[in-house]
Amino acid sequence: MFSSRIPANLSANRLSDALAERRASGRPLIDLTLSNPTRAGLHYPPDLLAALADARGLRYEPSPFGAPDAREAVARDYLRQGVTVSPARIVLTSSTSDAYSLLFKLLADAGDDVLVPRPSYPLFDHLTQLDLVVSRPYDLDLHAGWAIDFSSFERALTPRTRAVLVVSPNNPTGSFLSPAEIDRLAELCVPRGIALIADEVFADYELEPGAAARRARVAGRDDLLTFSLGGLSKSVGLPQAKLGWIAVGGPGALVGAALARLELVCDAYLAVSTPVQVAAADLLERGAAVRSQIAARVAANYRQLMALSARVPSCGVMRSDGGWYAVMQVPSFEPEEDLAVRLLTADGVLAHPGYFFDFPRESFLVVSLLPLEASFNDGIARVLRHFARSATSA
Ligand SMILES: Cc1ncc(COP(=O)(O)O)c(C=O)c1O
Repeated sequence: MFSSRIPANLSANRLSDALAERRASGRPLIDLTLSNPTRAGLHYPPDLLAALADARGLRYEPSPFGAPDAREAVARDYLRQGVTVSPARIVLTSSTSDAYSLLFKLLADAGDDVLVPRPSYPLFDHLTQLDLVVSRPYDLDLHAGWAIDFSSFERALTPRTRAVLVVSPNNPTGSFLSPAEIDRLAELCVPRGIALIADEVFADYELEPGAAARRARVAGRDDLLTFSLGGLSKSVGLPQAKLGWIAVGGPGALVGAALARLELVCDAYLAVSTPVQVAAADLLERGAAVRSQIAARVAANYRQLMALSARVPSCGVMRSDGGWYAVMQVPSFEPEEDLAVRLLTADGVLAHPGYFFDFPRESFLVVSLLPLEASFNDGIARVLRHFARSATSA
């Protein structure tokens, strides 16, 4: 009765089961997987969402790409980041997931391929499968600061590859796309008619000073069809507002052809609410107060993680240039899943095992840099104690 787009196995993994049990027992835990900014103890001005009640929202004027004012506000926000994009090339979406779905419909037929970085955001498996496209992984090189491994990339290409996904900075490795990488991607993609989808939702968050200045932004390319993704979820910590966007870039004729088709797809769904479009300019402007808190939080936790882990020689923290996550390289006394379950049940700390993100080998832990500093420090101290203990008993 049901489609094969939905995974056959819907059962929870062992870590989710253990988490549900822990929560049901009422015992406290430190959540180092926290990715919901609205639960991270940040100060949101109580009237931050006031513009959602603007009376202009009472009038419905559907527009496939979104209201002109809102698209201009997004273009201004790109300018804040030093990127020039015409509002005519901005398409509003209800989230980044929505943007992926629109783009897969635009670019790929059922069974076509999309190249996806590995390790990266676990949701890509579902997002591709739900739109009947095949995700083919290409590797990021652990020993080269998570740069694209182009021999793996070329092996992943097939005649049915329609798009390449990059995430900059990547979740969870924190690596930004470099100018040399985008040049090489263009060399490989342009002659094959492959588009580039660049997920830049974490673009505002630099962890290593100076890293963001060295990155490539894809929106300005005039040789390659590109789709840059962003949204309020991360840029101002408002995932519940449900507003994302696509900035389309590339050769004029190709951009025109893409927009004409995208308009039809967007017109079929008209997924973005009018109140959030009316409020977009205000949310982007006033949300800066939340963004600066998040930026300070993740940078402070990253520095603290580096300092704390330096005291435990068996645990390393990988350099992370940007984003909300850090990767710990830890001893392999046991399989990662056992480790994550044990950390939760014995130490009361929840961290993601690397295999969730398809790391090339064990053992890695991915931690969110978003929790309140005191809770983050306590959680990391527990993880490190776990390994200090394991090392003495090994
Ligand atoms: C790489 C990446 N893209 C997109 C998103 C989600 O964005 P949205 O809430 O706009 O769908 C996330 C959320 O964690 C993410 O890690």
